[in-house]
Amino acid sequence: MPQNPVIHNTFAAILAGGSGSRMGSADKPKQYMMLGEKPVFVHTVEKFVATGAFDAVLVMCPDLLRQQTTDLLLKYAPACAPYVVVCAGGATRNDTVCAAIAEVEARWITDDDTLLVTHDAVRPFVDHRIILENLEAAARVGACDTVIPATDTIVESLDGDVISSIPPRQALYQGQTPQSFRLNLLKRCLEALTQEERDSLTDACKAVVLADEPVALVAGDAANMKITYPHDLRIARALMEDQRA
Ligand code: CTP
Repeated sequence: MPQNPVIHNTFAAILAGGSGSRMGSADKPKQYMMLGEKPVFVHTVEKFVATGAFDAVLVMCPDLLRQQTTDLLLKYAPACAPYVVVCAGGATRNDTVCAAIAEVEARWITDDDTLLVTHDAVRPFVDHRIILENLEAAARVGACDTVIPATDTIVESLDGDVISSIPPRQALYQGQTPQSFRLNLLKRCLEALTQEERDSLTDACKAVVLADEPVALVAGDAANMKITYPHDLRIARALMEDQRA
């Protein structure tokens, strides 16, 4: 399946450890729901394996679903199996990123050039260009975030009652994933967080920003949408049909 030469010491972590409470699906988290003929996360894993750029793709899933995750990968994407390692994620998204770092360090020898590309399992429309530009930017700058220009005006309200400011839209972007890092840099930045910062951290790039280290921007794509609500799954299914046609 891989088409490009393997860049050594390059890892992807597919973040699939969430519960998907906003989706409201009682029987399984949204990353396991069907999108076309395969579960959502399988599409995402296939995108990363197909680049041929990774030593391994880690699928970070809920601890109790490790066997099921392995079985689904073997059923729907058997060609990916040699490149994939299924591991347990953590209680929060940030904990899952930390668990991915620990897994890479436990299984492989790493150095300052080791790259970790983190990506939401529930963004199955990520493409080859975005992944390769993440690798290039993380190697060059140390960290990068995938973003698209904000299309709506963003309004800030500190009390939830009245507007405190309306920042100029030209300077605002919406964050997507992947977010990619030199592994050692990310680890250092996460370790430097105070407990308060750690508790409120929803975004791995923020740990790098708080450490005053540069984070490059990689151009995302509106199609690289995140499946959060049932409405998003309907859009994703329509997009998938469209791509097939
Ligand atoms: N994620 C993760 N580990 C967690 C929480 C989230 O790996 N402990 C992953 C999710 O599986 C998803 C991505 O991070 O692929 C984005 O998560 P998000 O949709 O914001 O959170 P969920 O917990 O999945 O959903 P919700 O907030 O609606 O409960």
